[in-house]
Amino acid sequence: MTESRSVRLTSESHCDDFPVLSGTIGPDVIDLRTLPQKTGLFSFDPGLGGTATCTSSITYIDGDKGILLHRGYPIEELALNASFTETAYLLLYGELPTTDEYQVFRTNMNTHRLLNEQIRNFFNGFRRDAHPMAILCGTVGALSAFYHDGLDISQPATRDLSARRLIAKVPTIAAWAYKYSIGEPFIYPDEEMSFSENFLHMLFARPGNHYRVNPVLARAMDRILLLHADHEQNASTTTVRLVGSTGANPYACISAGIAALWGPAHGGANEAALNMLQSIGSREGIPAFLEKVKDRNSGVRLMGFGHRVYKNFDPRAKILQATCHEVIEELGLERDPLLDLAMELEKVATEDDYFVSRKLYPNVDFYSGLILKALGIPTSMFTVLFAVARTVGWVSQWKEMIEDPSARINRPRQLYIGQPERKFVPMSERG
Ligand code: ACO
Repeated sequence: MTESRSVRLTSESHCDDFPVLSGTIGPDVIDLRTLPQKTGLFSFDPGLGGTATCTSSITYIDGDKGILLHRGYPIEELALNASFTETAYLLLYGELPTTDEYQVFRTNMNTHRLLNEQIRNFFNGFRRDAHPMAILCGTVGALSAFYHDGLDISQPATRDLSARRLIAKVPTIAAWAYKYSIGEPFIYPDEEMSFSENFLHMLFARPGNHYRVNPVLARAMDRILLLHADHEQNASTTTVRLVGSTGANPYACISAGIAALWGPAHGGANEAALNMLQSIGSREGIPAFLEKVKDRNSGVRLMGFGHRVYKNFDPRAKILQATCHEVIEELGLERDPLLDLAMELEKVATEDDYFVSRKLYPNVDFYSGLILKALGIPTSMFTVLFAVARTVGWVSQWKEMIEDPSARINRPRQLYIGQPERKFVPMSERG
């Protein structure tokens, strides 16, 4: 971070200079940390769209150009050449692993997949029809009640242990949440399998059957996970950092991130996109549905389209578009009516002036929902899968924040628009 120049803010009563800070790439920021002391004023930025809340060297996004870099590497190169586990190492430690580093990391991570056997008992406390995100959120938070040796966040080795544990155990909890919902026995993790093979195995194997993981489908799953691993200071990552800024333990922080991800405007979008397709029903329903979307008063949005940051094509969506077609072909699903409807909707919407003029393109959720459906994953599990992937980003960002000496507890201010001070009126005098 360098200070290159300053900007002057002037008003009738103030004239103050504020430093302008430059990162490695991307727009400069005005350092407003001394704004209240110098001026008695606060900045007003609901939604934080114009505010950098931290420094970070993990992920860089240029939404206008459709660029996404992890530790400097373009997402396209990672998606085509690296595995999810390799990308996890990169995000956590800043560099791609050597062969030896990778083997050690992979072996260590695989041993952390298993859950303390008592954690099984949690699942019985949930209704069978509980949303798996509810189970995930609760169980991940409860890990802090089991892994006490991961709670001392002042120690780098302990932070690393918790980070690895979370990345390795969240898929097991996720798969068991699914198995619980369908009344099947839990499948224990297999340390020999890759991250994605093991995950698919825990989801779909049953005692007595010889479930073989299809390599094309395992690659598609790995790609979905890789593409969702981190995405800069989005709502759930900001939540993780905010909760972490209080010194809360990492399991509580990631549980909070899962809660934030659950919302339909964030991680729930691929589930919402699939539900939307189901409600449109068929190709014939597209024109009427798009009319509703364009009507401001309807409150209906085209789910899986648009992004707060990407005002050009989301680079992750491009990769998943190709993967989606690969999976559909491998499984011979070209004639699946829902996938057919999705492809038609994509075509019609990307040629429609309403979406083109507002720079609304299909986002990663549009295609990930379709791939997950093709893989046989129920819609209620979509956001859960997103959480499995994003755990890597959350723990990397949490570690970075804890290790940043300038990090402080997050405590924003407000513009108060309520009643000014007034005198209490006893109930008997209120009429
Ligand atoms: N369908 C229809 N119109 C839309 C959509 C959409 N999906 N998204 C934005 N618009 C319109 C808005 O109505 C607005 O129109 P106006 O200028 O006529 O008022 C214009 O486009 C700009 O919209 P904003 O709300 O300012 O866009 P914002 O950047 O705040 O929204 C968001 C981003 C929340 C992702 C939005 O595009 C949306 O709701 N998309 C659908 C949900 C979705 O797919 N979310 C996943 C995001 S990706 C992720 O979390 C990994």
